[in-house]
Amino acid sequence: DLYNFRHIGVDTKVHGVIGNPISHSKSPHLYNAAFKSMGFDGVYLPFLVDNVSDFLSTYSSLDFVGYSYTIPHKVDGLRCCDEVDPIAKAIGAISCMIRRPSNGKLIGYNMDYLGAIAAIEERLQDSNGRSMSGSPLYGKLFVVIGAGGAGKALAFGGKQKGARIVVANRTYSKAQELANRVGGKAITLSELENFHPEQGMILANATSVGMEPYIHESLVPKEALKHYSLVFDAIYTPKLTRLLLEAREVGAAIVYGTEMFINQAFVQFERFTRLPAPKQLMRDVLARNT
Ligand code: ATR
Repeated sequence: DLYNFRHIGVDTKVHGVIGNPISHSKSPHLYNAAFKSMGFDGVYLPFLVDNVSDFLSTYSSLDFVGYSYTIPHKVDGLRCCDEVDPIAKAIGAISCMIRRPSNGKLIGYNMDYLGAIAAIEERLQDSNGRSMSGSPLYGKLFVVIGAGGAGKALAFGGKQKGARIVVANRTYSKAQELANRVGGKAITLSELENFHPEQGMILANATSVGMEPYIHESLVPKEALKHYSLVFDAIYTPKLTRLLLEAREVGAAIVYGTEMFINQAFVQFERFTRLPAPKQLMRDVLARNT
């Protein structure tokens, strides 16, 4: 039911996702089902693209609304923008590009971190059992493992919510660089084992450790997880990583990587369409297609 449209016409709003490979992407399923359910005259297409700049110039006359960007084009996509949102610039990658209808300018944003941070905030709010006016991340010690694209996104996102940031990374110099940029502290991976300046910290894994070929590994010994109230893993295949399993076993709240994906899809949908995302429907479609 991916492209089950009654009609595509001149007014149909064109969206898409640019990546390579692209056939695995769940986004077209989510968006097209959402458009259809809302009676919205839009289409969302998967684009298999080798070279972003060639693609954009070939289709320069297409008055598309926006494109999502996925692996490996998040950095190239940024280079093709006319303007880049400050956070995306700091992260060094975009997750979507929106075309300003008045002048055709391409504006790049990174919304990946918004999805992850929203998922963490939601879970913290649930486990506190009350709603708070500020962010539940405010003032918390937020340990981010990884200093690549995902690590940067989480560190900047956490900082924006008022968390105190600690960055741990295999390559220590990268941890230092990122920690400096968010006014935080850098530690080595081996320091994670005995790092517990306080209880109730928040942990996020943004490295590849936990997915193939490191599927049975975790960078934080189980004992050390006792000091965290919530653990998030950006990995979503497998859904339950060793880190999340052990965190759950020691009683921490856990947030799956799939939550980051679905939340960024909601945020991006709302930016593209300026309409509220049909969240339950999109969750159902994702569940049916995974
Ligand atoms: P992404 O865009 O998903 O963040 P990335 O930019 O390639 O991907 O970053 C991968 C992250 O995983 C990095 O922080 C990397 O550490 P280095 O900076 O030292 O390369 C981390 N990483 C990858 N494999 C790892 C491993 N086996 N052990 C520890 N960290 C690892």
